[in-house]
Amino acid sequence: MIRYAIVGAGRMGNAHAGNLSQVENAQLAGVYDILPERSQELAQKFAAQACSSLDELLALPNLDCLIITTPTYAHAEAILAAQQAKLNIFCEKPLCRSQADAERLLALFDDYEPLFAVGFVRRHMSKTLKAKQIIDSGSLGRLLYCNVDLSHSRYKRMPGEWFADFELCGGATLDMLAHHVDLCNWFFGRPRNVFASSLMLDPKLPLPTDYVASVVNYDNGVICNLMSSWQRFGRSNEMMEIYGEKGALIIDGGELLSLYDEQGNLQKIDAAAEFPPPKASAKGVDNVNAASGFFRQSQNLTAALSGQSRPLPGIQEAYDSLKIGLAMIESAKTGNVIKF
Ligand SMILES: NC(=O)c1ccc[n+]([C@@H]2O[C@H](COP(=O)([O-])OP(=O)(O)OC[C@H]3O[C@@H](n4cnc5c(N)ncnc54)[C@H](O)[C@@H]3O)[C@@H](O)[C@H]2O)c1
Repeated sequence: MIRYAIVGAGRMGNAHAGNLSQVENAQLAGVYDILPERSQELAQKFAAQACSSLDELLALPNLDCLIITTPTYAHAEAILAAQQAKLNIFCEKPLCRSQADAERLLALFDDYEPLFAVGFVRRHMSKTLKAKQIIDSGSLGRLLYCNVDLSHSRYKRMPGEWFADFELCGGATLDMLAHHVDLCNWFFGRPRNVFASSLMLDPKLPLPTDYVASVVNYDNGVICNLMSSWQRFGRSNEMMEIYGEKGALIIDGGELLSLYDEQGNLQKIDAAAEFPPPKASAKGVDNVNAASGFFRQSQNLTAALSGQSRPLPGIQEAYDSLKIGLAMIESAKTGNVIKF
């Protein structure tokens, strides 16, 4: 049995607890949130212990892994405490909020013996696994460019919330684009330079709103155009399209991938048929979406901690995504192209 603890019982703490409740050999041992009522509510739901401090949580007997779902600016503190306790660590993305924390964590965790995994959930989705296979097969020919459209039109955050404070969350640039920047790194390799413009959650706007337009150039010549928004109206979308000399691949909100060949013929690919989602166990109390990347992520994490080999992005992938996000912010602040 793999025993988990969760620090941060908000949206993602609850989501991970629900997914883990459906995974064989996973057990939630304890929960800590700075708001005691949140610790208690989540702990009660999954028969875990509500703790009144991080130290108390980390001292629970036979703990295997700490899941960190605190706000981004508080990740580093929890990561360092888990390292002291020599625990396996799963940390939500983005790795942290500052370059200084990122450098420190990369140096400390480069050869960390227990596991360090980061929550790049899209790497666990059937459609992304299939997309990676298509890209690696070379069937698109030489890769040329990629567009990412990640617009969110139901943004409800209000002034005073950490998710509306650019210094705490990094806005759409660091928070939303972290996943797709990671996918670009996974698909295209090493970035060469970055340019970005952003509202950076401008506090002078009537209500918190954000927008980022950015270009990342990769060493292999691929030009990536990444856009993300937090808006209170308009359209929402999640789309990534990759063009090569011999075809185009479109990954959008559904499970069907669109693959165009050189003649413009369209083939729809059922990624879930080729990478079937894992089966949920019947033991849980929550209805989880077994087809979601979150569930496969929880399964992969538990399997890896049980000694099986599973693909889990770690500290280097977390750092590489954050490095680009922070460079986008520097570019938006200075107007400069940031070279790596
Ligand atoms: N993988 C994804 O798709 C995804 C989606 C949403 C959020 N996230 C990431 O997950 C993290 C958490 O986001 P969320 O939406 O759950 O936020 P949230 O605000 O809903 O939850 C954070 C919780 O942490 C608690 N908290 C704050 N400081 C703490 C501290 N020092 N110690 C203990 N508890 C503390 C808060 O009281 C709150 O309950 C963020 O880094 C966010 O970027 C990832």
